[in-house]
Amino acid sequence: MTNKQSLRRFKWLAGYIKDNIPDYLVIMGDFLTLNSLSAWDRDKRLLMEGRRFYQEIDAGNEALDTLELEKYPQLVKKFIHGNHEDRLTRYIYTHPELADERTTVSSLLQLKERGFQQTPYRDYTSIGGIYFTHIPFGKAREISGKDICSKAEQVTVNSVVFAHTHELHTSCVHKEGQKHLQQILNAGCFFEEDEEYVQGHMTNYWKGIIELDNYSYGRFDLKTTSMGRLKREYGG
Ligand SMILES: [Fe+2]
Repeated sequence: MTNKQSLRRFKWLAGYIKDNIPDYLVIMGDFLTLNSLSAWDRDKRLLMEGRRFYQEIDAGNEALDTLELEKYPQLVKKFIHGNHEDRLTRYIYTHPELADERTTVSSLLQLKERGFQQTPYRDYTSIGGIYFTHIPFGKAREISGKDICSKAEQVTVNSVVFAHTHELHTSCVHKEGQKHLQQILNAGCFFEEDEEYVQGHMTNYWKGIIELDNYSYGRFDLKTTSMGRLKREYGG
């Protein structure tokens, strides 16, 4: 998200959570955009206009408040840090005078106080044999490009769910000698408007939320709910 976007999708999501009360909520990363800290745009002063770090942090807190997660004490909440949250970590590397527990995404979004378990960027967290990460990495870089599920399969052995690409893909793999089927899910994204950096690019984005039914270890059925459906059902 950025501080320029509407947060109405979080109201719709709050309605969905109220109706469906899941056991787990996993925020897959790049929850914050942190355009104000973009190393890519830092020298482009016109582009940087209007980008405000604390306004975006305020928007992030407002979005989390909107979900009213405190109503569900049994809900296990997980927050996976993406490369956009990692922008703050990298910014602090070059501005060490700001290094402090108070200048972390965790602290600024009050994630501990909100009861979120956190997973650092590039790390994995598992639920019932399904491994969640922002984006799997190969030797040097995050996986990317076409046929992303087969690339995920090359660098992981467990069922894995990831985000980052904004696209929706799934596949199943069962290699000779492998004990269990490996399921792979690239889980789309959760925003309404494309951000300015993708303008003019091909965008095969899928926007919405995905509910997983972890019916046995490492296995899941999935139910997608598109942003359009969320809007129709909870936007009234
Ligand atoms: Fe990402």
